[in-house]
Amino acid sequence: MEDDRIISGKSEGFEEVNSELSLRPQYLNQYIGQEKLKNEIAVYIKAAQKREEALDHVLLYGPPGLGKTTLSLVIANELGVNIKTTSGPAIEKPGDLVALLSELNAGDVLFIDEIHRLPKNVEEILYSAMEDYFIDIIVGQDATAHAVHFPLPPFTLIGATTRAGMLSAPLRDRFGIVGHMNYYTEEELTNIVYRSAQVLASEISAKGAHEIARRSRGTPRVANRLLKRVRDFAEVAEKDQIDDEISRYALDLLQVDKVGLDATDRKMLTTMIELYQGGPVGLTTIAANIGEETDTIADMVEPYLLQLGFLKRTPRGRVVTAAGYAHLGLRPSE
Ligand code: ADE
Repeated sequence: MEDDRIISGKSEGFEEVNSELSLRPQYLNQYIGQEKLKNEIAVYIKAAQKREEALDHVLLYGPPGLGKTTLSLVIANELGVNIKTTSGPAIEKPGDLVALLSELNAGDVLFIDEIHRLPKNVEEILYSAMEDYFIDIIVGQDATAHAVHFPLPPFTLIGATTRAGMLSAPLRDRFGIVGHMNYYTEEELTNIVYRSAQVLASEISAKGAHEIARRSRGTPRVANRLLKRVRDFAEVAEKDQIDDEISRYALDLLQVDKVGLDATDRKMLTTMIELYQGGPVGLTTIAANIGEETDTIADMVEPYLLQLGFLKRTPRGRVVTAAGYAHLGLRPSE
């Protein structure tokens, strides 16, 4: 169901990834936003290059769609090394990881998205690989079983996760650089929409870019997706540019409201209000009531509602705030 969301932070199939790729910046100076993290990383890249060493391992965490993969591609590009990308769930057994590691050259980047979903026995192999650049693998069975010591070239692991709390301590501790990705400001998103419109060779007005940006829930992936949909409406309406009028029209039709909430977000709030007097209520209960996975709610719906201050976390569950009620044109009952 969540894949139907126009504002879904999840990346989809192959085509989507490819068309997004062209919208992706190649270098740090083209990457908009995340200024603090970007400045830090620029220093670490320069230092590693001066010492002719691999960059220390990097952990990027934050909500989906904020550019963790994009930043990793930029880092590899700035380092001038190759990058192999994979994801936690794609690595099913130790052999899969060994195959990836054995293809690395000195200084290369291995990017593992959703690193919190690595199987435990795979994660354990990573410890020595990250710390001392070797792996010990067991070959043979029973009487002939023996460990084979397998040295690796110095490499950089970049791990991405939506929730740093879900990473085991031994894994988390092996990342020398830990970067938190924040939601983007409206101004940063406006600049991203501008840049993307240029890449897509579409004319866009300042007000049009701003209208899309403010409804993109602080997320570049959402901004780029909304831009493409609005552009379709502008095309069919034979507009010579994407202006604020066509943006408002298209986004209203798509049920993306003034602050970027879509039908699922509003359903979560109204369900909490109608069935649970606004809470406190547990996330699993809410998810069951609106027919979504708890993980989807936790990763893609709740964080932005918390960021807007429409939702509050309490020890007994989630609570809709006065601002949340106000946004829906409702009032908390006594
Ligand atoms: N496209 C997606 N994310 C971006 C970013 N942070 N900066 C520039 N272009 C982007």
